[in-house]
Amino acid sequence: MKILIVGGGNMGLTFAQSFINSKIVTHEQMLILEKSMKKANELKKLNIGTVYGEPASYIEDTDLIILAVKPQDISLLFSTIKPFINEQQVVLSIMAGVRIDTIQDHLGLQKVIRAMPNLPSQIGTGMTVFSASDAVTRIELAMVQNLLSASGKTVYTDKELMIDAATAISGSGPAYVFYFMQSMIESAKQLGFSQSEAELLSYQTFRGAIELFNKHDYTCDEWIQKVTSKGGTTAAAFSSFHDQRVKEGFQDGIAAAFARAQELSRV
Ligand SMILES: NC(=O)c1ccc[n+]([C@@H]2O[C@H](COP(=O)([O-])OP(=O)(O)OC[C@H]3O[C@@H](n4cnc5c(N)ncnc54)[C@H](OP(=O)(O)O)[C@@H]3O)[C@@H](O)[C@H]2O)c1
Repeated sequence: MKILIVGGGNMGLTFAQSFINSKIVTHEQMLILEKSMKKANELKKLNIGTVYGEPASYIEDTDLIILAVKPQDISLLFSTIKPFINEQQVVLSIMAGVRIDTIQDHLGLQKVIRAMPNLPSQIGTGMTVFSASDAVTRIELAMVQNLLSASGKTVYTDKELMIDAATAISGSGPAYVFYFMQSMIESAKQLGFSQSEAELLSYQTFRGAIELFNKHDYTCDEWIQKVTSKGGTTAAAFSSFHDQRVKEGFQDGIAAAFARAQELSRV
């Protein structure tokens, strides 16, 4: 199976490296098309596959084409690669807000998979939600799921709208976690800890909570009850969170992210 990654930036490089590291594809099977000459030269030094600066007939021999350019660059991308695309090829797009039918219309092929990965994919702990057009076969879908699993966990959905929902949850999600961590760090400093101590307290608390959650079958609510004693400190914090509608505010933020993802997908 020959794979072409179009766009060797953050995500394109992440995928190329995860496929090679997990030995799903060989260097000979990996092709990267990167228009920035500077980045292309850097990619060549990494020796992960053949790097091209321009589209050409080599595209015709690839089985899977992964689109990993910024959404604003798609017009140029579509027009330059279309002459080398054929009906048998499968396209996997990780571009935010670009719908399956847009890709089908512009490239003139039917087999399109759309995926929404997130930043931790870079270190193999990513969360990717993906959906596919009807023309993609089960075998092709399984092959792509296998590739996506090289950078973390995957969830398949048969409703493309759920890609926008995933964008609001796991796509933007790492930023929400950093926002909570940053709030804890700022509070820890106000209470007298140094920057490095505050970062350690915040980071180790998140890590410990997640590992506890993974090790047992309790829900988040049950864990909250385990930490909270009547009239105690956690109860005081939660009483304040409740009064200030912290949970509702957070959920409103996610709803805004979902609305924005839908808006972008309509363009
Ligand atoms: N970063 C994330 O966490 C994340 C998460 C989920 C989804 N995504 C999606 O992943 C996609 C890529 O994001 P990124 O952060 O990896 O972007 P990026 O670092 O800017 O990488 C994109 C690369 O593609 C190159 N490029 C643009 N047009 C091209 C073309 N026609 N042919 C070949 N190469 C081309 C760009 O070159 P120039 O620099 O010269 O323009 C750039 O090097 C985006 O659509 C984004 O929505 C990203």
